[in-house]
Amino acid sequence: MVEVKDLCKNYGPVCAIDRVSFSLKKGDVVGFLGPNGAGKSTTMKIITGFMAPTSGEAKVDGFDVFEYPIEVKKRIGYLPETPPVYTDMFVRDYLEYVAQLKKVESSKIKSFVDSAIEKTHLQSVSNRLIGVLSKGFRQRVGIAQALVSHPEVLILDEPTVGLDPKQVSEIRDLIKQLKGEHTIILSTHILSEVQAVCDRAIIINKGRIVAEDSIANLSQLEKGSASLKVRLRTEVNLNSFLSSIHGLISVQGQGLDWEIKFNGDNQVHDAILSQLVQSKIGLVEFFPKKMDLEDVFLKLTYGQEASV
Ligand SMILES: Nc1ncnc2c1ncn2[C@@H]1O[C@H](COP(=O)(O)OP(=O)(O)OP(=O)(O)O)[C@@H](O)[C@H]1O
Ligand SMILES: [Mg+2]
Repeated sequence: MVEVKDLCKNYGPVCAIDRVSFSLKKGDVVGFLGPNGAGKSTTMKIITGFMAPTSGEAKVDGFDVFEYPIEVKKRIGYLPETPPVYTDMFVRDYLEYVAQLKKVESSKIKSFVDSAIEKTHLQSVSNRLIGVLSKGFRQRVGIAQALVSHPEVLILDEPTVGLDPKQVSEIRDLIKQLKGEHTIILSTHILSEVQAVCDRAIIINKGRIVAEDSIANLSQLEKGSASLKVRLRTEVNLNSFLSSIHGLISVQGQGLDWEIKFNGDNQVHDAILSQLVQSKIGLVEFFPKKMDLEDVFLKLTYGQEASV
């Protein structure tokens, strides 16, 4: 449904995105995840036809975004970083106006606007001026305008940014409800958002895609290594007790708390455990520390692991 190939965009000397390629099948819900300045908005602006790439191509439903802009715009609903809402218009009037701009047949405009209002829970404010709405409601109006033409693809650039936790959770629920009806790309720098809403994540950093996979598989990226957290009853240096075990990567800590990194092999895990028990050094706690998506994300984007 969305195909992006070797997209590059330079702003003068600044290379904002570098050979970005990915594709989305119909119905995919994908999180475009990256820190500030990673190139998320730039990529989205190109897919939606708001900006030309320096090189590469983007297609929506087989239509090149620059050769067939009208066909593409018909299929896309876009929520930019700053929602394009007119503060001096009433919610319903604004949505009708957007529906007209998007060439929704006039006989269908009322029902399409009603449906967008219902999906985004804007019924109670549909006759209010957009300018007097809270930020969360304004964001919903932004999502409603993206939805109003029943587009096949929804492109949402940081839909929950600046909202309070309750509104964040409401907007996430809303996006979950839209699953199945639309192909969705959602950008965010918040990992939990992707975990909460998306099936797949594309992680972008400094203009390049550094990982792309299902949420489950991404969490397993660091499977080749594992670590164990250990708490002891008395202070000892664990290094001296474990030095004979092959497959250890590092044993770090001091006093009572230690972290043992090893190659992830089950036999090594068991050998560490049995050595600790046999040594009678007063093992109080022993638990594996699984790399989660947070660790993977931090490692891929900032080159470090999350601190525990
Ligand atoms: N109009 C512009 N002129 C010059 N540089 C720009 C312009 N727009 C973006 N950039 C640069 O391109 C890079 C990517 O920016 P982009 O806005 O796509 O990142 P982003 O991932 O959306 O970041 P954020 O999370 O802060 O929204 C950044 O280094 C940014 O400074
Ligand atoms: Mg952005």
